[in-house]
Amino acid sequence: MITREKAIEVLDKYITTPWLKMHMRESEAIMRELAKHFGEDEELWGLSGLLHDLDFDYVNKDPKRHVVEFDTLLEKENLKVGEDIPEEMYHAIKAHYEEHPDITQERESKLDIALAAAETISGFLVACSLVQPDKKIASVNVESVMKKFKKKDFAKAVRREVIYEIEEIGLPVEEFIKISLKSLCDISDEIGL
Ligand SMILES: [Fe+2]
Repeated sequence: MITREKAIEVLDKYITTPWLKMHMRESEAIMRELAKHFGEDEELWGLSGLLHDLDFDYVNKDPKRHVVEFDTLLEKENLKVGEDIPEEMYHAIKAHYEEHPDITQERESKLDIALAAAETISGFLVACSLVQPDKKIASVNVESVMKKFKKKDFAKAVRREVIYEIEEIGLPVEEFIKISLKSLCDISDEIGL
């Protein structure tokens, strides 16, 4: 499997948008904490989070090409699926955008579901922290996040149903928020929240 060092090198090469790089780190942090919770492979889950949107700047954030072009970048970097990128990681990265008509992978495994839920909640929690008076992630609590889920106008683009998919793998959404908040608090200096 690709090392974290190499993953960061590739990330630095292809991700130029600062918020996107933060989003990848946030997704990694949440995935590592989730792996601990489920007793799964922390490195596999963490690196899936870190690399999941690798092609997003490369495709100029075009939703029609997003995730599809992930393969192009793997080829350019000579990263092999089944070796550098384990099959489970590849499947989860593809399936995190199963809504795309050309993506054939569907969210099935724990890793697939966790990745889509984690990367989705990361954006939501960042939005929650930015409306706090001090803009700190430490000021966000589970109850306020649950309330904001119900407010359709708040962080409109965030698909709540993808966050709730986490319950399909046995994690109540409140607990998921708690784990995710802790993960982001642990890297708050790095993500500037
Ligand atoms: Fe993402």
